[in-house]
Amino acid sequence: MSSVNNTRTELLVDVELVSVEAISTTLVENSSTEEQPLHQNNRNHSNGAVVKSYQSTAATNKTRTTSSTSDDSALLPDVGYSTIQNSTRGVQEYQPLLNSRMDIDMTFNYFPDDPQFNDIIRAAELAIEHGIYPERIYQGSSGSYFVKDAEEKIIGVFKPKDEEPYGRLNPKWTKWLHSLCCPCLFGRSCLVPNQGYLSEAGASIVDQKLGLNVVPRTKVVMLVSETFNYSRIDREKSHVKKLVSDHFPSVGRRFHRIGLPPKVGSFQLFVEGYKDADYWLRRWESDPLPETIKKSFQFQFEKLVILDFIIRNTDRGNDNWLIKYEKPEVKTTNEEDDWSIVKLPEVKIAAIDNGLAFPFKHPDSWRAYPFHWAWLPYAKTPFSTEIKELILPLISDMNVVQDLCDELYAIFKEDKGFDRHMFERQMGVMRGQLLNLSQALKDGKSPVQLVQMPPVIVERSKGHVGTTAAFRNFSDTFTQRFQYKGPVFSWW
Ligand SMILES: Nc1ncnc2c1ncn2[C@@H]1O[C@H](COP(=O)(O)OP(=O)(O)O)[C@@H](O)[C@H]1O
Ligand SMILES: [Mg+2]
Repeated sequence: MSSVNNTRTELLVDVELVSVEAISTTLVENSSTEEQPLHQNNRNHSNGAVVKSYQSTAATNKTRTTSSTSDDSALLPDVGYSTIQNSTRGVQEYQPLLNSRMDIDMTFNYFPDDPQFNDIIRAAELAIEHGIYPERIYQGSSGSYFVKDAEEKIIGVFKPKDEEPYGRLNPKWTKWLHSLCCPCLFGRSCLVPNQGYLSEAGASIVDQKLGLNVVPRTKVVMLVSETFNYSRIDREKSHVKKLVSDHFPSVGRRFHRIGLPPKVGSFQLFVEGYKDADYWLRRWESDPLPETIKKSFQFQFEKLVILDFIIRNTDRGNDNWLIKYEKPEVKTTNEEDDWSIVKLPEVKIAAIDNGLAFPFKHPDSWRAYPFHWAWLPYAKTPFSTEIKELILPLISDMNVVQDLCDELYAIFKEDKGFDRHMFERQMGVMRGQLLNLSQALKDGKSPVQLVQMPPVIVERSKGHVGTTAAFRNFSDTFTQRFQYKGPVFSWW
């Protein structure tokens, strides 16, 4: 209690003054760091113990780096991403950002590879600047927000890292109490805690890489809004800065930020016209889907299965995927002839809420975190030829798999709690899932047979054969092993 008060007093008295000169920005092109993504160059495939060998290549990304004397982000110990200094920037202009973990920085909320996503984030920022704030989703287990555009239309779902179920500022205090009272039981022991936002963005990477297109696009962004859950210290600090700034503009100009600190989190595009899967699945029990559309639904269902299996989602209840179904519509154009406009029926699946995936070990018991879709009748149908033709070539290509790991690494490594060994274990589980999936597709299994396969881990072999100083302990060969034996799924 007293330490909290001390901190608070100190913050209020010693309002941070960051000298403009202290912030230096450098644009570094073609930077290569010690931690370089691994690139695989061997295409041989083997079912034996040693699976693959890889070679490292240098990263050639453009990266903005900044340094600063600010320790503002120390107030948000859980948040490791850089903080935005000026949320009122124009579309073209991107301010240098601060980074508390490393001197390397990222350009947040700027996605040149995805102009549509970029525009939506701009619209969200603009709306917030005009007082149209994100709104908390009340049914959720943590702080999730519907983000709107200037017309107050919902355009995205933002989940800040520090408001995750066991995050520091989770507005659902019972969860927070739970984590304090029974720390040994809190969360899912197979998941890296408080990295749900990375899991959300990671699911989207897997989805895009394999052309599944069932996850509404999701990326790591930073947003600030009065409606987010902030600590009293943050609110009061911002208030004091505003007062100082209003009364002494020359002093105020020296604050590097006056408003509340931006939050890092996942931003997922909002999909319209969808309902919880449960809703339609129940309706279809009494009013079955027309044959014409059944196949399309089955294909998308297979994509959902593949996504969940690869990322080893531990939270796929039927409330965490959505279905959009537009029934066929027949309209007569005029009374004299029989010609009709037939609106083709459409069915689409959206896999939302992917924050509890990418475990670093397989769950101890399959039944603890089942894939709920495995109980649906659709799961008994063997994987289609179409899905096999789409997925098998990709997941059998170890270059694609390595690219996928590199892409995940690029976003995961920015988290303050990032641990390279933990990440390797996460990738070990994912590679194991990919191995089982490719076997299941080759063998013509069904989703329900897939989830019964004994979980495999494909990990780097022990040894000091890494290619760079940072990876000295990471081998470039892989070994597969089974985590445990025995049946892992039953229907009841
Ligand atoms: N991308 C999205 N598009 C449309 N609706 C969404 C989207 N994401 C979430 N929702 C709605 O918000 C609800 C809560 O979102 P969810 O991601 O499940 O949050 P939580 O992690 O709190 O469970 C969902 O049940 C769904 O109705
Ligand atoms: Mg949910």
